[in-house]
This record gives sequence, structure tokens and C-alpha cells, in this order.
Amino acid sequence: MKTKLVLKLVLLGDPGVGKTSLISQFVHARFKHSYQLTVGLDISSKQVKLNDGRTVTLSINDIGGQARFAAIRHMFFKGAHLAMFVYDVTRADTLKNITDPWYKELMEFCSQPNSTKSTIKIALVGNKADLEDYRMIEEEEGEELARQIGANGHISASAKENVKVDDAFKVLAQSFFDEVES
Ligand code: GTP
Repeated sequence: MKTKLVLKLVLLGDPGVGKTSLISQFVHARFKHSYQLTVGLDISSKQVKLNDGRTVTLSINDIGGQARFAAIRHMFFKGAHLAMFVYDVTRADTLKNITDPWYKELMEFCSQPNSTKSTIKIALVGNKADLEDYRMIEEEEGEELARQIGANGHISASAKENVKVDDAFKVLAQSFFDEVES
């Protein structure tokens, strides 16, 4: 019997940084210019091919970044294997907020069997890299923060132009197996 491997992934970051857009580009190869805030939670899934040819299904949890959803979003951190933190390279505060509240919230609430502080794999994504003229956060700052929060990768991406979007999801999925199987 073939088993289907499913990893739970949560995306976290300030409102409007592009979490939904990254997912939409990755899952449906679509980009919307208009901003529609995520109310609560939206779940989608997509298969990813690992380096050794195996496939894994990502169950992708898009959690609304607005403060008013704080009370419910904690429920969805539980059992997560992977976390993608997203900031907007044109808004300095969105990087600062990765440490507090986002990283802090995740660490407080994800500690469950199968998802402990030591096993959850993290990637940090700087989105909207196409807006180079408006960039407020340099690559090095993102890389430094990625080190501080123990991320397995820092990726500069553009959901709009589909730059490094697949890579961001694949690097994260792969990092789970690199650790487990090493
Ligand atoms: P919440 O649902 O409030 O948490 O927001 P979100 O993080 O899901 O942001 P969303 O994906 O809805 O994107 C917000 C706005 O940024 C939209 O108007 C998008 O079109 C725009 N946007 C997203 N990604 C990019 C990008 O890579 N480049 C540019 N230029 N705009 C982007």
C-alpha cells in the first residue's frame, strides 16, 4: 500500500505582505493585484517533489495577519511541521514584527506532539522583491534575522513576477527531510 506523506505548513506575517499571493502563485499560478484580506484561515494543498524524486503533499494554512484574528489563529499553529514567515521588503516594520509577535506566537502555541520547538522547520521569505526601487530592507538584514530565528533558509521572492516562489516552498519541504534522515 502506498502512503501519502502530508506536511502541515503555516504562513505567518503582517497583513498585506503577500502570504495569500505567494500561495496563489505556487498552487494556481495566479496573481491578483487587488488586496482581499484573509478572514481567519484558508487551506489549500499542493504536491512538491523532493530532491530524491519522492513527493510530499503540503497542507498550506494561510492565516489572516490582522490583529483581530489573533484569538483563532493559535489553534492552527498546532501540529504544524513547517512555518513560512513572510515580510514585505518595502516595509521595514514587517521584518521587525517577524520576531515579535510572529515568531514568539508560533513558539508559544506550536508545542504539540509532532510539532515541537526543535522539530518545526522554518523559512523566512522577503516578498515583493520586484519593487526594487522601494526596497527598505537589504538582503543581509533578512539573512541575519533568519539566523536569529533558526530558519533553514532566507529567500527573496516576488509573488507578482513568480520569482523564487516554488523554491521557497520546496526548500522548506526539503529541509524537513534533510534533518529527519540525516
Ligand atoms: P492578509 O490576508 O491581510 O494577511 O494579507 P496577505 O499577507 O495575504 O497579503 P496579500 O497576498 O493579500 O497581498 C497584499 C497586496 O500585496 C495585494 O494587493 C497584492 O497584489 C500585493 N502583492 C503581493 N505580493 C506581491 C509582490 O510580490 N509584488 C507586488 N508588487 N505586490 C504584491
